[in-house]
Amino acid sequence: MQTTVRKAVFPVAGLGTRFLPATKASPKEMLPVVDKPLIQYAADEAVQAGIKELIFVTGRTKRSIEDHFDKAYELEAELEKANKQKMLEIAREVLPADVACIFIRQSQPMGLGHAVLCAKPAVGDEPFAVLLADDLIDGGQHGCLRQMVDVYNHYNSGVVAVQPVPPTETDKYGIVAVKSIEERIGKVQTIVEKPKPDEAPSNLAVVGRYILPGAIMDILTNTSRGAGGEIQLTDAIATLLDQQQVLAYEFQGKRYDCGSKLGYLEATVELALQHPELADGFRKYLSGLEL
Ligand code: UTP
Repeated sequence: MQTTVRKAVFPVAGLGTRFLPATKASPKEMLPVVDKPLIQYAADEAVQAGIKELIFVTGRTKRSIEDHFDKAYELEAELEKANKQKMLEIAREVLPADVACIFIRQSQPMGLGHAVLCAKPAVGDEPFAVLLADDLIDGGQHGCLRQMVDVYNHYNSGVVAVQPVPPTETDKYGIVAVKSIEERIGKVQTIVEKPKPDEAPSNLAVVGRYILPGAIMDILTNTSRGAGGEIQLTDAIATLLDQQQVLAYEFQGKRYDCGSKLGYLEATVELALQHPELADGFRKYLSGLEL
């Protein structure tokens, strides 16, 4: 495998049904946590990991994601005229100048594996990252993807981010069985999509960060519909295991499942409590609540 990861795929074409009606006409990935949309947190994490090309797999109702990463001429002109320098910088600095965006449409939401396959023309045969923006991961100084790129660079093999989940929740995730190599890193032995608790090989769940070899694209081309009638990335990774090693990495940091309302609220509260302008006032407000 090549030794640098330069490209990241952001599958953002899902229907986001758990957030209806908020997601009827606008994307789940544009839901703001404090003052940034979910997709911006994921893009920032990718940029921090050295990614130079962001490939968004979008669908109907997702145009605002393109607009978000585009230059906003009218807004910038108005802010400039009003001499609102700080706001102007915020609007301009959505992405560094040396990072490019590519947008590809997934015409039908046929599953995460299919969404990743849609990015094939832009990915080519390079290793690439996949980030699911509804998993917001606060990795502190070293974002989750940065940590994974370090693991990739050391072992030169695919990496999936994992975390232990309560055994009763295995049917919400891809679950791996691993053979430990070193602290936090294991070699994936098996991977299964959404197993029932009594059939799960462990309680280590794959979360929304992957580094995959270009070879996964050919595998996805030949992967038929699996759990829920969708083309599953998990099934393609299971096939990849017959060809090459894939590592599971227990990342450092905290993950918020912003695809669920409760996880989204947890992220909002905890990130507001870290926000330099809001933390004090918000803490005061929370402590005054009668709970
Ligand atoms: P989810 O399983 O969270 O599905 O997809 P969803 O449609 O976004 O949300 P719910 O379950 O209906 O509420 C995980 C990720 O994969 C993307 C989603 O946009 C999300 O980032 N995805 C899923 C696609 O891009 N295409 C698909 O066909 C399916």
